[in-house]
Amino acid sequence: MTELVVGRRCLEVRRILGDVDPGTMPIVTQEAALPVVRELAAEAEALGIGCDVLVVPDGEAAKSLAVVEEVVRWLLDLGVRRDGLIVAVGGGAVTDLAGFVAAVYLRGVDAVYVPTTLLGAVDAAIGGKTGIDVDGKNVVGVFRHPRRVLVDVDVLDRLPTELKRQGLAEALKAGLVGDPDLVAALERDRLDVDLESVVRRAIDVKLAIVGRDFEEAGERAHLNYGHTVGHAVETVTGIGHGDAVAVGMIAAGRVSALTVGFADEDRQRDAIAGLGLPVRSPAADREEVVRHVWRDKKRDGAGLRMVVLERIGVPGVVHVDAATVDAALDAVGLQGGT
Ligand SMILES: NC(=O)c1ccc[n+]([C@@H]2O[C@H](COP(=O)([O-])OP(=O)(O)OC[C@H]3O[C@@H](n4cnc5c(N)ncnc54)[C@H](O)[C@@H]3O)[C@@H](O)[C@H]2O)c1
Repeated sequence: MTELVVGRRCLEVRRILGDVDPGTMPIVTQEAALPVVRELAAEAEALGIGCDVLVVPDGEAAKSLAVVEEVVRWLLDLGVRRDGLIVAVGGGAVTDLAGFVAAVYLRGVDAVYVPTTLLGAVDAAIGGKTGIDVDGKNVVGVFRHPRRVLVDVDVLDRLPTELKRQGLAEALKAGLVGDPDLVAALERDRLDVDLESVVRRAIDVKLAIVGRDFEEAGERAHLNYGHTVGHAVETVTGIGHGDAVAVGMIAAGRVSALTVGFADEDRQRDAIAGLGLPVRSPAADREEVVRHVWRDKKRDGAGLRMVVLERIGVPGVVHVDAATVDAALDAVGLQGGT
């Protein structure tokens, strides 16, 4: 299982490496995370430990098979052995990439994640899914836990508001499916919420679910609350993932009200708006969004499966028909033919 550290100023080379001497500390990162990497590299140098850094393209562009090959060849050049490790310092794109490479390089070496975005800290770095894009998001990937995850909340506190918002959407989702007190804290303190507590609580929700259903045979799907319509809106409009999940949760809230009598639709809407997240989709071709919703991989023989809330903290899964999807898209203001 993963060793997890959440704290302030907790990024230390010895904590990253544990008690092994890997010869060198290979760090895969992205430009924006370089200030964090530089501090680690300086500490490694002071300790007499080698540190090599590979900066990969920003965002989704890192999650390609071409970049996987680049990282593998770099590790070979460095002479990283089976008992070595790969350190990912960056957002979810970097941890997804490095985690995948760690799973397949020499049939598997340890991965250590240092998430530098809130979305990474509460979601991407947690739960052992990795993903590489091939003609679509996360088409190639494995389930494999990293050896360690170290979250430095000081790094997250310094994030621009935009990146905080994107992460808070996933944190709110975690609260909605598993921690009503987390929802209450986000409602009360909004963007000023204590990030250390948010990160701990959101991670706890995810780890509890993943601990019961690692390979998504059932319950893990609850973590997809808001993602069916969210992914479709994200694909069609190009808005950020957190914004899209926010819109998707509004849609899922309506489906919840229609199918299982969810009574807190308005409360959920206020919580989302309170975090500065959108409650309506940007203008988009409704038919295209519908097509993407039905293309969702959560579709099965009995119709489209969607995660709903019976009440805050109590998720479930329902099969929905076209009329219910229509009502969900009405709820996020998607007009026909726009
Ligand atoms: N494996 C999983 O379970 C899982 C779960 C959720 C999301 N994901 C993946 O995570 C990715 C999204 O995560 P993300 O938003 O962290 O992606 P990201 O890595 O693209 O980071 C978002 C942006 O933040 C910048 N950034 C990173 N650290 C920063 C810092 N400290 N200060 C300022 N800017 C910084 C990056 O350069 C990038 O432009 C997607 O690829 C998604 O598929 C994976």
